Amino acid sequence: MTYDLAVVGLGYIGLPLAQRACAVGLSVVGCDTSGRVVAGLNAGRSHVDDVSDADVSAMREAGFLATRDPAVLADSATVVVCVPTGLTPAGDPDLESLRAAVRAVAARLRPGTLVVVESTSHPGTTEEVVRPLLEEGSGLRVGDDFHLAYSPERIDPGNPSFTMRNTPRVVSGCTPLCAKYAVAFYSKLVETVVVARGTREAEMAKLLENTYRYVNIALVDEVALFCDRMGIDIWDVLHCAATKPFGFAAFSPGAGVGGHCIPVDPRYLAVKAESEGFSFRILSAAREVLGRMPGHVVERAAGLLEEQGRSLNGARVLLLGVTYKPDIADTRESPAYAVAARLRARGADVAYHDPYVSEFTVGTAPLRRREDLAGALADADLTVLLQDHSCYDSALLARTRCPVLDTRGRTAGARVTLL
Ligand SMILES: NC(=O)c1ccc[n+]([C@@H]2O[C@H](COP(=O)([O-])OP(=O)(O)OC[C@H]3O[C@@H](n4cnc5c(N)ncnc54)[C@H](O)[C@@H]3O)[C@@H](O)[C@H]2O)c1
Repeated sequence: MTYDLAVVGLGYIGLPLAQRACAVGLSVVGCDTSGRVVAGLNAGRSHVDDVSDADVSAMREAGFLATRDPAVLADSATVVVCVPTGLTPAGDPDLESLRAAVRAVAARLRPGTLVVVESTSHPGTTEEVVRPLLEEGSGLRVGDDFHLAYSPERIDPGNPSFTMRNTPRVVSGCTPLCAKYAVAFYSKLVETVVVARGTREAEMAKLLENTYRYVNIALVDEVALFCDRMGIDIWDVLHCAATKPFGFAAFSPGAGVGGHCIPVDPRYLAVKAESEGFSFRILSAAREVLGRMPGHVVERAAGLLEEQGRSLNGARVLLLGVTYKPDIADTRESPAYAVAARLRARGADVAYHDPYVSEFTVGTAPLRRREDLAGALADADLTVLLQDHSCYDSALLARTRCPVLDTRGRTAGARVTLL
């Protein structure tokens, strides 16, 4: 085999995997359907926050090649599939990229290959969706001819403390031998490998991890809505509760949840549960609460302007931070879209400042970008801090002329109101 590893899908998950594999000395090829991604990587440019251009150059020097040509999959001892598993426009699980990627692997599968799926999906996906496609497309049998495994990625973009290397990795196989091959592969990349009983347990563990965040964020959001009604300071409530040294994990309220995982993965669980005749009521309740948060932010913003004798109609509103997490460039599923759309619908003149995001289009119209923070603050009638990037200097925000709605509970000052 020419390559130790082929990574299919070179995004937020696949590229760091390819980088780590290069770093430990494996020969790596990456296959992606996007010409832009492939050309950028081969030119030494990264499109992923956690991987720098210098990292990509180092990968290239180590022999890494990105390509759109799936022929390389026939020359790789291990193939790891890291393609998106998002939602359709109707909000249902979309496994089309996964199916397409697996078909491409199946058509070139050689005996002895280890195939691993890292894409998040509902329990049963590896056995019921991936395995038949691979077996029918190749004429080979899992366990007898090739190995099939599932290993969910746990990457936390922008987290400097936990990287792929020191985050324990859950690994599972369709057979005990498949799991053994997968453990041998991941042991080269990470410090701790945790072996799940089977692929369904590993798939479910991933959904549990993300659903845990989803439900707890919804809980704290609903507590915030109730505290708003009661005139209770939610941030002080959280400060007090978080001092409990056991049995309480702190989550923060905000404009909603974003990213490619937290708003998406519980849908996979809910839809699978529905197909099994099981009603996951906590998921629908959490979804309903989270869906209310952008509207709540806009109502609070309107209230601050009303205190000044103004309305949102015609007001210049500045949004600070439009990504879904602090200090990263990822805007996927960011609640900033829903907040901006609602503000516009109320007639506000909305602009944004975000050092990580050069373009932010809401609906079909791009939002006006402000680069000079002090100037943008000076021009605004109202500022809404949506994402607490570390560049947002509390002292500067506290001195603004206009009211500031801080949805992250980060700042203080005479003009600052917390969500
Ligand atoms: N982003 C995260 O923080 C995160 C964390 C854990 C798990 N995941 C899961 O990992 C998977 C990948 O997510 P991501 O964030 O890396 O996605 P991404 O959109 O950043 O990257 C996916 C890449 O796959 C490529 N692609 C799409 N279809 C393809 C195909 N058929 N063949 C080859 N390439 C194809 C795309 O062009 C893109 O470059 C998803 O299932 C996601 O749920 C993501």
